[in-house]
Amino acid sequence: DMGGHDTYMHKEMSEQPEAVDRVLRGRIEDRFATVHLGGLNLDAREARSIRRVKILGCGTSYHAGMVGAQMIEELARIPADAEPASEFRYRNAVVDPDTLYVAVSQSGETYDVLAAVQELKRKGARVLGVVNVVGSAIARETDGGVYVHAGPEVCVVSTKCFTNTTVAFALLALHLGRIRDLSVSDGKRIIEGLRKLPGQIAEILAGEDEIRKLAGEFAHARSMLFIGRVRGYPVAREASLKLKEISYIHAEAYPASELKHGPLALIEPDVPTVAIVPSDDLLEKNRAALEEIKARSGRILAVAHEKQEKADHTIVVPQNEPELDPILMGIPLQLLAYHTAKELDRDIDKPRNLAKSVTVE
Ligand code: F6R
Repeated sequence: DMGGHDTYMHKEMSEQPEAVDRVLRGRIEDRFATVHLGGLNLDAREARSIRRVKILGCGTSYHAGMVGAQMIEELARIPADAEPASEFRYRNAVVDPDTLYVAVSQSGETYDVLAAVQELKRKGARVLGVVNVVGSAIARETDGGVYVHAGPEVCVVSTKCFTNTTVAFALLALHLGRIRDLSVSDGKRIIEGLRKLPGQIAEILAGEDEIRKLAGEFAHARSMLFIGRVRGYPVAREASLKLKEISYIHAEAYPASELKHGPLALIEPDVPTVAIVPSDDLLEKNRAALEEIKARSGRILAVAHEKQEKADHTIVVPQNEPELDPILMGIPLQLLAYHTAKELDRDIDKPRNLAKSVTVE
């Protein structure tokens, strides 16, 4: 039942405020400026002994893991990174007892992720899951974890689950941070930011009309570039994937800092750029990148906290705490991908060649 929506994708994007409310519900502990994660199965001593965090997932879940790795590094000050599970399992990676491994999956059934978990477990590693489907194979094989509580996701492309997974990682990062060196006041600041998310997401979704109008301009692009720096980079990666999957327009994501090392050569009027430009400490750097694109007659759509002079259009999104901004900044780009695909009359819920869960190698 699509409840009045024309596609499951549209229904699921619109469910994001409630979904985020669900992943937060019952977990915030104001008294200690932290969160309680019932299924984590990791005591304070163990949490303090972690030297590294390695996050494994595929596709959109890998991108959510990239966001998560940055949150863990920023809030818990533990070196963290994300890697496609499929790459990890084939490169005979060093399995280190002081590393916490985290497997991310909406379905909990993706074979490459499951196989990575099994290999890690066989070698004695500790593996947590950040999973949506309760009782799924990956949820069962991991030692503990955080359920994402996005609710059922029917559309082949993931939207609400991406958002909820990034929120689940914010909770994990806050939890680890408060056991380690994150101050009470920073803990409170993050909790306040988390509480603002559902309302801010609703605000972004209310801007859909503006985005629908923009989509007409991008539907005939030859290719598109998505750029962002640090926190904005995984957002660019995910937005680029979403556009490719449902509109079939070629898109590529790049760190904004790498533009001048190659992709600037692609810039021309029918290769527009989408730039993630939060008002954080990298704002001036990002503005300089917009200037370089503009100087080469590139068209720019910015997703930002304030209007960007160099951009042809700015989608203004509400500002949260800098560490949590990535949760919000991709949402207008889900809508952009959706309306671009509609413009091109694509089969949005069932894109060609793709399946909802990839249970084969
Ligand atoms: C993208 C998409 C895929 C999945 C990937 C992993 O919209 O849906 O890239 O994210 O196949 O699936 P899960 O999260 O179920 O492991």
